[in-house]
Amino acid sequence: MRIAIVFFSATNNTRSMAEVIRERLEFEGAEATLCDVTSPAARAKGIDFGAYDAAVFGAPVHSLRAPKVMRDWLGTLDGNKMKCAMFFTYGGFTVHPAHYSTARILEKRHFIVVSSAEFPGKHTFNVGGWKAFTDRPDKREHALAEDFVRATLRRFSGVDGDMVSGFEQGAFNDDQLDEFEGFRFKVITELPSRNGAECCQCGMCEKLCPTGAMDCASGTVDSSACIACLGCVAVCPEGNLKINSTEQSWQMKLTMGKTTVEKLNSQVGKLYL
Ligand SMILES: Cc1cc2nc3c(=O)[nH]c(=O)nc-3n(C[C@H](O)[C@H](O)[C@H](O)COP(=O)(O)O)c2cc1C
Ligand code: SF4
Ligand code: SF4
Repeated sequence: MRIAIVFFSATNNTRSMAEVIRERLEFEGAEATLCDVTSPAARAKGIDFGAYDAAVFGAPVHSLRAPKVMRDWLGTLDGNKMKCAMFFTYGGFTVHPAHYSTARILEKRHFIVVSSAEFPGKHTFNVGGWKAFTDRPDKREHALAEDFVRATLRRFSGVDGDMVSGFEQGAFNDDQLDEFEGFRFKVITELPSRNGAECCQCGMCEKLCPTGAMDCASGTVDSSACIACLGCVAVCPEGNLKINSTEQSWQMKLTMGKTTVEKLNSQVGKLYL
């Protein structure tokens, strides 16, 4: 069975889980190919789904859903009744309705969603001082990925004829969810910038940027396009790109969530079958 693992990943959590899933699929005898659609160029190039028997879609949770650029791109595909699975990485807070919202898009595009999973991954805002899932994904996520792959393959092959249903829709409508996407700028109040510092102009920040917002020559971002994924900050080999400190918002986040670092970090992932 030929399987495309199609993923978006700005800071590598989703990529690392995609790699684990690929290894496990191959271990179980499938032929699995990683298809990274993080960059605008990769999404524009597209994927020939006709070359595969099934697909696995991976994304981070950004403000309760898959990142908008990924959702928009998924909305252009034609699944042609292909079976697919989904997985998400998340930073310790709200996950839903990411599964529901992504499944709804895929089903509208004629994919058949048979399973899903969510895996803890270090929170992107740790770059500025948050401390959520600092060392995840780890072996707990790898073990869960094994179960995910085994169950998903049974469904892809038809040995198990079930498919997943009943994802949490949650209390919010699409307009409210769109509004929540703006909240990231209450945490990332200063978008990535070199603040005028010189750099080697390696171009990695611009190449990685999923929205074309980064201009490596000036070291500044287009605030109307930036999604605060912080991929540029993480990739810069010179550590030149800076954001504001997120330490104050971290304390507020713990208080609002009535939680502690220990409680938060003891969370484990989940399968949806
Ligand atoms: C803009 C933005 C919004 C996020 N929103 C959430 C969220 O709603 N819930 C959550 O648990 N984590 C959230 N995160 C954390 C990411 O889901 C998490 O760090 C993810 O593993 C990053 O994946 P990547 O490394 O593949 O890019 C958010 C991260 C960013 C950048
Ligand atoms: S400029 Fe914005 S969207 Fe682009 S990589 Fe940096 S944080 Fe992400
Ligand atoms: S990644 Fe860093 S060093 Fe490379 S061009 Fe961007 S800011 Fe300069």
